[in-house]
Amino acid sequence: MKNIVILISGRGSNMEAVVRAAESQQWPARIAAVISNKPEAKGLEFARARGIPTAVVANKEYASRAEFDAALQEAIDRFEPDLVVLAGFMRILTAPFVQHYEGRMLNIHPSLLPLFPGLGTHQQALDAGEQEHGATVHFVTAELDHGPVVAQARVPVLPGDTEDTLSARVLAEEHKLYPHAVRLFVEDRLKIENGDVRILEDAAAETTS
Ligand code: GAR
Repeated sequence: MKNIVILISGRGSNMEAVVRAAESQQWPARIAAVISNKPEAKGLEFARARGIPTAVVANKEYASRAEFDAALQEAIDRFEPDLVVLAGFMRILTAPFVQHYEGRMLNIHPSLLPLFPGLGTHQQALDAGEQEHGATVHFVTAELDHGPVVAQARVPVLPGDTEDTLSARVLAEEHKLYPHAVRLFVEDRLKIENGDVRILEDAAAETTS
């Protein structure tokens, strides 16, 4: 049974998708906690209603990034996580924090990385005249939005799209993509080799190869 800690900053719809999939597909995992850096994050309500332990580590109460990350790490590690899932967690993380969770922290980013790291990805895709856009799940490394890619989902950019219509199309895919990727981790099917992710066919493949 793997312990998953999910970090959110707001709405938490990706967190919700992961929680629902873990339950309905009976993953060998439990959502040990949902932690937010914002006390008002909407997603906390969903987690509480499900009986999932929640915690708030408010970044504005810390004088520096390093102090905040240290407090956050302590809050996360109380739940002994096998995996940390960043689900709309809008903080740049320090290198020691990232290193502490190396190989066991995933993020979802709303673009087809390496295109459009950072913020405002949907508008950036529109401005660049992209015909295709999407989302990426990747392992978190010290360089923002640059870790080994686990999976991507693609959507078309349609004539007349706005930031809103495009982000809604991408978000619908995120809600399928993230549970899929987290499940692969939980089933021990992700291996990082020379900076790339290899997906094992199934758990048995690992023991026979
Ligand atoms: C999602 O679109 C996620 O990909 C994005 O924020 C949104 C959070 O929505 N994450 C980032 O931009 C990370 N840099 P949610 O709170 O409803 O899951």
